[in-house]
Amino acid sequence: MLLTEKYKPKSLTQIIGNDKEIKKIIMWALDWQRGKVEKPLLIYGPTGVGKTSVAYALKHQFDWELLELNASDIRNKINTEKTVGVAAETMSLFGKTRLILIDDVDKMSSTKDRGGTPVISSFLKTSKQPIILTADDLWDKKIASLRSLCGKIQFKKVNNSSIQKYLISIAEKENINISREIIEEIVSINSGDVRASLNDLQARNISVFRDKQINVFDALRIVLKTTNFTEARNVSFTVDLDHEMFKLWIDENIPREYEKAQDIAKAYNNLSRADIFDGRILKRQYWGFLRYSTDLMTAGVALSKKEKYKKFTGYAFPSYIQKMGSSKTKRATNKQISLKLKKYLKGSTRKIEDSFEIIASILKKNMREGIKFYRLDISDAAYILGVSEAQIKKIMKEETQSEDQSIKIKKKQPTKEIVLIEDNTNNQLTQFF
Ligand SMILES: Nc1ncnc2c1ncn2[C@@H]1O[C@H](COP(=O)(O)OP(=O)(O)O)[C@@H](O)[C@H]1O
Ligand SMILES: [Mg+2]
Repeated sequence: MLLTEKYKPKSLTQIIGNDKEIKKIIMWALDWQRGKVEKPLLIYGPTGVGKTSVAYALKHQFDWELLELNASDIRNKINTEKTVGVAAETMSLFGKTRLILIDDVDKMSSTKDRGGTPVISSFLKTSKQPIILTADDLWDKKIASLRSLCGKIQFKKVNNSSIQKYLISIAEKENINISREIIEEIVSINSGDVRASLNDLQARNISVFRDKQINVFDALRIVLKTTNFTEARNVSFTVDLDHEMFKLWIDENIPREYEKAQDIAKAYNNLSRADIFDGRILKRQYWGFLRYSTDLMTAGVALSKKEKYKKFTGYAFPSYIQKMGSSKTKRATNKQISLKLKKYLKGSTRKIEDSFEIIASILKKNMREGIKFYRLDISDAAYILGVSEAQIKKIMKEETQSEDQSIKIKKKQPTKEIVLIEDNTNNQLTQFF
């Protein structure tokens, strides 16, 4: 789970920064509580400072209902059912106040929401329920006609020391072991953006996810379905899979999800750029590049589609790995190691032998982690890779040295045991890790 989700403010007092503006919002909400009809609020300011969170906080704090609408929802409903009119004018069924959120009004797409502002305008004028609109830029032409209908609340960047205190308190709650210096660095890089700071805190401490990781199918669904940069990128923090393996999964499933040739071409282009970065990372141990490669293979692939595909897609196990597997077992000792691995991997011995190639590639990438993860001996690793034990020891030593000098970015560590589940119907691996 993302920290930004877990720590989504549940009351206005949990929103840090912009104290005066928060007080105004509380007064506005209390007026509504007393039955007074107030102007809609337009909360504007930079991203990641809590604008949208205000609506969610109000919902929890005052036990209001929350209805999120965009321009076309409003238009459609006014045109077809007239339900929004009703929604806006009356209390909800249960007598609760119904807060309406029109998020990011300045980002309405000019084609899809054409003529959206007049619709919103008339809606704002007639509403008898509280409405909150959010925007980045108060002076955006698109919202010129809405401005005068709203009370305006400006959110500014949150100051560094507040964010710092906030991150420290969360690090404590989450048992994140992170130095003050790194927290300071995170805060200064993200100048005033609370959301980005939280995401960074999470990115630098993958262990937060120990028991909250998402499986590869959910991760793929997010990357291939979403068109939101951050959502796609954040998958790399939560997916319970090695970077290289996840790339193979994405590779395999792009053409299953995407149908337009252009989308597919773009997606593969981004994936191959990720490959190029990964090549450099391996060669020169530039772990700093991992960020670019990760962004390209998640957000890059996600944003390669023009539009979401609204369909169910069955995702498949990477065929590359299956092919590697079918070149199979030349050596008798394979069995022995398989038996050992069997303790940690669920699935038939044969499938485990097939996965030797994968294990080899993981060992090549990170010997120490790989050995620990699969609970191998040095001799096993030597055998799997076809090299001598001395060579394995040498590689491990080099890894230690290069890590000592390496950059702060922490590599993602596999934390769960691999689970191979055999699907009886077509005898294919349907789930991995
Ligand atoms: N001022 C804040 N105080 C506490 N958390 C915040 C604040 N601003 C952002 N966040 C965190 O970032 C997430 C996203 O914030 P959001 O309200 O969507 O930002 P905005 O709408 O201004 O872009 C929230 O769920 C919360 O975890
Ligand atoms: Mg927002």
